[in-house]
Amino acid sequence: MKIQIISLFPAMFDGVLSTSMLRKAEEKGIVQFSHVNLRDFGQGVRKTVDDTPYGGGDGMLLKPEPVVLAIEAALKNDPEALVILPTPRGKVYMQSDAKALAVKPGRGLILVCARYEGYDERITKWVDHQYRIGNYVLTGGELPAMIIIDSVVRLLPGVLGGENSAAIESFQDDDETTEFPQYTRPEDFRGLKVPPVLISGNHADIENWRQEHKGI
Ligand code: ADE
Repeated sequence: MKIQIISLFPAMFDGVLSTSMLRKAEEKGIVQFSHVNLRDFGQGVRKTVDDTPYGGGDGMLLKPEPVVLAIEAALKNDPEALVILPTPRGKVYMQSDAKALAVKPGRGLILVCARYEGYDERITKWVDHQYRIGNYVLTGGELPAMIIIDSVVRLLPGVLGGENSAAIESFQDDDETTEFPQYTRPEDFRGLKVPPVLISGNHADIENWRQEHKGI
C-alpha cells in the first residue's frame, strides 16, 4: 500500500514512520511511505501557501491552489489512491474506518495535513474522506494523519507478529472500547494479583472471563 503524506512539516513523521511496527511494515514491502511537501506548490518567490479568510476572522487559511496541486501530484503517483483530509469538521474516525481503508485492495492513501486556522473549503472537492480523530482541535493534521496511518497499517496482512492478532482484536464495535484487561508476569505485583482464572489453563473459562470483562 502506498501512503503519501502532504504536509508543510514532513519531519514530524520521521520518528513515527521509522519506528517499530510501521518501520517493519515498510521494510517488509507491505507499505511505502512518501512525502509531498506542500511548500513546493506554494505561489510566488516566497512559495506562499496561505492567505486571509474572506469575510474576516483570525488567522490564515491554506489556499486552494497549492493544496490541489499537491493532491494532483500525489494522484499522479497513485491514481486510485483515496484522498483523506483530517479535519475537526470531519466524521469521527472509528475502527470500522480503519478496517475499510485497510481492505480496499490496492488502494493507497493520500493524507492531506492542513495547518494554520484551516483551509479553503473548496479543496474538499478533491477529498474522498474527512475524519476527525476526537472532539478537540489540534494545531494541524499531522498528528491525526499519524493516527490514521498507524491504525490502518497494523491491519494490513503480514504486519503484526501473530498473523491474526489484528483479526482477533476486540474492537468489533464502532463506538465501544471492548478490549479486555490483560496481565503478564509477575503473578503478584506489590500485592496486586493476576485473576486466578487466567492462570488456570482452562481456555473456556478464560474466554468467558474475557467476554465478561470487555469494555472500560
Ligand atoms: N485537525 C485539527 N484538529 C483535528 C482533529 N481533532 N481531528 C482531525 N484533524 C484535526
